[in-house]
Amino acid sequence: MKASCLVALVILASISTTLATKGIDLSASFNNFSCVKNAGYSFAIVRGYKSFGEVDTVGHQNLKNAKAAGLIGDAYFFPCKGKKTASAQVTEFDNVFGSEYGTVWIDVESNPSTGCGWSSSDHTGNCQFLQDLVNAFTAKKRLVGIYASQYQWSTIMGSASACAKFTSHPLWYAHYDNSASFSDYAKYALGGWTTPSIKQYVGDTTLCSVGVDLNFY
Ligand SMILES: *[C@@H]1O[C@H](CO)[C@@H](O)[C@H](O)[C@H]1NC(C)=O
Repeated sequence: MKASCLVALVILASISTTLATKGIDLSASFNNFSCVKNAGYSFAIVRGYKSFGEVDTVGHQNLKNAKAAGLIGDAYFFPCKGKKTASAQVTEFDNVFGSEYGTVWIDVESNPSTGCGWSSSDHTGNCQFLQDLVNAFTAKKRLVGIYASQYQWSTIMGSASACAKFTSHPLWYAHYDNSASFSDYAKYALGGWTTPSIKQYVGDTTLCSVGVDLNFY
C-alpha cells in the first residue's frame, strides 16, 4: 500500500471515531450533567414513565438538568400492559413532559411490575399494545422510537422478525458488546428494521457517580 493511501485511511478512521456521538440513559435522580458532558457524552435519555404505570417526575427534572448542562435530551417510556390503556399512559406522560424532549423511546422489555407484564402467550396482543402506544404519541405529534434487544423482542412479539410494523420510526437496540459500532446489528436485528438509529452498547455502569447505560449513534 502506498504511504499516501495509508495516511488517508488513518485519517478516515479517526474521522469516523470522532463522528460517533455518545450518550447515557439513566433512571436515578441526578444533577451533575456537566460532568457527563465533560466526559465526552452529548445526549441523555431520561426515564419518563415507570414500569408500574406512573409518570417519572424525577426523570422530568433530570431532563431539565441535562438540557441546562447543554446535553441533547430524550426520554424513555416503560409501559405497563395491564393496569391502564396505552392512550391513558401516553396522556399522563405528555401532560408532564410536553415537547421538552426530542424523541420518546418506548421500552419493549420484560416488565417485572405486578399487573404490568407483557403477555407470555398473546404476542399479537403485545404487538397491538405497542401499536396503540405509537399511535397515541403520533396523535400528539411527538417523535416516537422503539427500544428493544433482539432477545426481548423475540420473547414479547414471538420472534425476532415479528411485529415489523414500526420501521418508519427509529430503533434503539441493546447489545452489550462494549463496542460503539453498528457492525453487529445484522446479527442482532429485530422487528424488520434494516438500520438502527442508536445502540446501547454498555449496560449498568457508573459515570460521574451515577448508574447509567452507555449509548451511541
Ligand atoms: C460533578 O462532577 C465533578 C467531576 O467529577 C465533581 O468535581 C463535582 O464535585 C461534581 N459536582 C457535584 C455537585 O456533585
